[in-house]
Order: sequence, then C-alpha cells, then structure tokens
Amino acid sequence: MTSAHSDPTPVTVRVPAKVNLELLVGPVRDDGFHSLSTVYQAVNLHDDVTVALDEDWSCSVTGPYSDIVPMDSSNLALRAARLLAAEAGVDTPVHVSVAKSIPVAGGMAGGSADAAGALVACDRLWSLGLSTEELEEYAAELGSDVPFLIRGGTAVGSGRGERLAPVLARGSYHWVFAISDIGLSTPEVYAECDRLRGTATSAGVQPEPNSELMSALRSGDPHILAPQLNNDLQDAAISLRPELGELLASGMEFGALGGVVSGSGPTVAFLVEDVESAIDLTVALTATGAAREVRKAIGPVHGAHVIPARVD
Ligand code: C5P
Repeated sequence: MTSAHSDPTPVTVRVPAKVNLELLVGPVRDDGFHSLSTVYQAVNLHDDVTVALDEDWSCSVTGPYSDIVPMDSSNLALRAARLLAAEAGVDTPVHVSVAKSIPVAGGMAGGSADAAGALVACDRLWSLGLSTEELEEYAAELGSDVPFLIRGGTAVGSGRGERLAPVLARGSYHWVFAISDIGLSTPEVYAECDRLRGTATSAGVQPEPNSELMSALRSGDPHILAPQLNNDLQDAAISLRPELGELLASGMEFGALGGVVSGSGPTVAFLVEDVESAIDLTVALTATGAAREVRKAIGPVHGAHVIPARVD
C-alpha cells in the first residue's frame, strides 16, 4: 500500500438526518433487498463526525444516544473510513469521533449519516479529492441510504434506495419528529411488510415515484404536500408496535398537516405549517409522554459537508 499525502489537521463533517416523504416497497430482489422507490428529504438534525490521524483504527461516540452505539469495528463510521482507506490505498489509520444528535435506530438514518460523514471527512483528511459521485459509490456499499446523506436536499432513491435522482423542490418544510423508545429493527419491519402482503409481494412491479408528490414538492406548499406523505412500511411498523398508530393519531389531533412513520420507524414525522405550529405540536406531544423525545426540524438541508473545527 502507498501512503496518501496527509493533512494532519483533524477534519469535522456535519451530516443531516433524513425523512422519507414517500417509501414504496416493491418485490424482494435476488440479493434479499426490496426494490424501492423513495423520496428522501434531509433535515437539520445533525451529527458531527471528526476524523484525526492516529496510531490505530478506533472510534468514539458522544451525545445523548451514545450508550447504544457500538464503538467496536462494527461501527458504521469506522467501517466507512476503513473501506475508503482500502479502496484508495491509504495506510494512515484514523480515530473517528461522532458527536451524535440524530436519534439512534429511529428510522432517520443516524448510522448511515455517520458513515456518510466519515467518507467525506476522510476524503478531505487524506487529500483524496474524490468526486461526490465516487464517494456515493463507496457509500452504497455501506448501506442503502448512505449515498443520500452525502447528497442531501430532496431526492428520489430507486434500486434498493441507493440510486439517486434530484427532485425539484421549492421552499422549506417544518417537521416535528416524535422519537419513540420502542425498538424496531429494519429487517424485522421489511419482513413484517412481506408477511402482511403475503404472496402479493413478489408479484409487484418496480415502484415509481408518485407524480402528485412531485408536483406538491414543486408547489412549496405544506398543505399540498401533507396528503401525499406515504410509507409502505408504516402498516408493518404499526402491526409490530401498535402504539405508533396512537402516536400518529395524537399528532394529527394536535394540528399536524400530515404524519408518517419515518423509514422503518419507530420515529414518527409530522409536517406542520410553520415554526409556530412546530413549537405548539412539540409542546403538545411532549406533554402526552408518548414519545421519549420530540424535536422540530427543517428540510431540505445540505448533505455531509466540512465545517470549521470546534473549539471546545
Ligand atoms: O441497506 P441497509 O443497511 O439500510 O439495510 C438494512 C436492512 O433493511 C437490510 O439488511 C434488509 O433487511 C432491509 N432492506 C431491504 N430492502 C431495502 C433496504 C433495506 O429489505 N431496499
């Protein structure tokens, strides 16, 4: 292996969470993944991923959710750094530290975000100069939605979610996320979706994005977007955790324009009219005690990007 030219200054990358405005699940493919059509939006709940040259490969995680994130070689951010090193022929190990703010295992792609952040940070640290497209190719090896966390904004994902196409979206949308304590694993939710559909699953065709959702995004009007929010995994998530159905109903009663389970759950995303409505809904949902935490956010925002080093 060759050693790449290395900049010794640590690099920090800020990376967003995502919500799926639409998630259409098609048939199971030969590789076991489902064909998807999804519309991602990046929202301003962020993790900061810092990479610094070190004697050996290692990682650490801080923040409110850090206790349930693995810090061994299975950590997705560390795997991303090692994958890029192997692909680019770099032999300078790094320590990856993640300051987490994105909910863990919530259906908001927190682990994928950290992987995306590590790829972008290592590309800069090692002065590799890779294009976004090249980084997105490595990202796809790490998980279906990792490429989107590099790109950000609003985009359609097809294939297993990793093939991206831009979407023309106007304006900013206000979201409230109800983050629940109940565990739900992504493979378990896909399996429940298959079970609920029975034999119909493999008979389905590759799904296509809903054109009404696309024109709603062009309008920039949350009232028009709200009825188009749709997630084929939602029934499966509610079947496994019925309290999610109650949480959705509460948010709508408290004035949300629309609500949808985010990805494979258990986080529930509510679209609201403006920042005042977001504050009102956050207070109302927090008071019910039905969610571990309720957070407001805005989307779309940029994907993974280098930020100035933090002065602690
Ligand atoms: O790619 P990612 O790590 O997000 O996938 C986690 C799991 O979710 C997969 O192992 C698979 O069980 C399920 N999945 C799927 N079809 C997809 C994406 C994910 O079945 N398109």
